[in-house]
Amino acid sequence: MKHFLSTIDWSQQDLASLLRVAGELKQHPINASLKGRSIALLFLNPSMRTRTSFDLGMQQLGGISIVLQPGKDAWGLEFETGAIMDGDVEEHIAEAAGVLSRYCDLIGIRAFPGFVDWSKDREDYVIRSLAKHASVPVINMETIVHPCQELAMMMTLQERMGSVAKRKMVLTWTWHPRPLNTAVANSALLMGTKFGMDVTLLCPEPDYLLDAQFMEAAKANATASGGSLQVSHDIESAYDGADFIYAKSWGALPFYGRPEEEWELRKNYRHFIVNKEKMALTNNGLFSHCLPLRRNIKATDDVMDARYCLALDEAENRLHAQKALMMNLLGAEL
Ligand code: CP
Repeated sequence: MKHFLSTIDWSQQDLASLLRVAGELKQHPINASLKGRSIALLFLNPSMRTRTSFDLGMQQLGGISIVLQPGKDAWGLEFETGAIMDGDVEEHIAEAAGVLSRYCDLIGIRAFPGFVDWSKDREDYVIRSLAKHASVPVINMETIVHPCQELAMMMTLQERMGSVAKRKMVLTWTWHPRPLNTAVANSALLMGTKFGMDVTLLCPEPDYLLDAQFMEAAKANATASGGSLQVSHDIESAYDGADFIYAKSWGALPFYGRPEEEWELRKNYRHFIVNKEKMALTNNGLFSHCLPLRRNIKATDDVMDARYCLALDEAENRLHAQKALMMNLLGAEL
């Protein structure tokens, strides 16, 4: 069974081919390639872009989507194998995945980590449990990675740059009032290196490095693609000559589940905000963010309103890339 859980499991060639189809779908958005097919979209967390783009995308291909919010409008779910279910949730993923697989051709899930125990969350056990029990392809709509966002980021960069190989990408940590998921940062690192970019991870100090499994996977990607990966804690040299700045805030993993302690670190780094002075150090660089973004916290108004800001293009490309993904997983062609 071919799933889309992480781009680590997909080759650069397969991802590039998927993005080519996404480009064609952007030119010709409506067709009936998935007529009669369906997707169940499980949202354990809020969403605007992901929900809208998957729901609309399936309809534009002639299919049907069903949005479910377990614990709200659907039964709460247990994901642990062997759990004694005497708490609040009514249904195990074994049955839920089995039932949805009988009804639908695809299942997407958004399940943010629990922010209590990183040693548990880093296993991505929620989506892996769904994939184990499903008999249809499963799509990651953001867990501890956000591979659909990766597709949109790379599609947007290729539209602007053509080949992205050897272009300097800076993934910069930005300030935010509380520690956020590392998913988009993990994914940006994976995708930039997968496509041969020279990627710099800019973060305030080593406690903000990403989990070793993603640092190692990104290094392996860079070796295979001819790109590179380096870490910097120096803002000026990191921005210097950059072709692309990608911003995201995330929590320091050594303090995972202890936000008050993490705050003692975080409070010192408001100056990591992306502003026009920093962008002036780049090589007429482009800027993007996955959205949502707190203006004048993560990036200033003038950066968000600049011509070099690709955030809306990237959000739009979620739609086209995910349509190509659903077609790919169901073996449909244009
Ligand atoms: N970027 C992104 O996934 O947006 P939503 O959280 O609104 O889906």
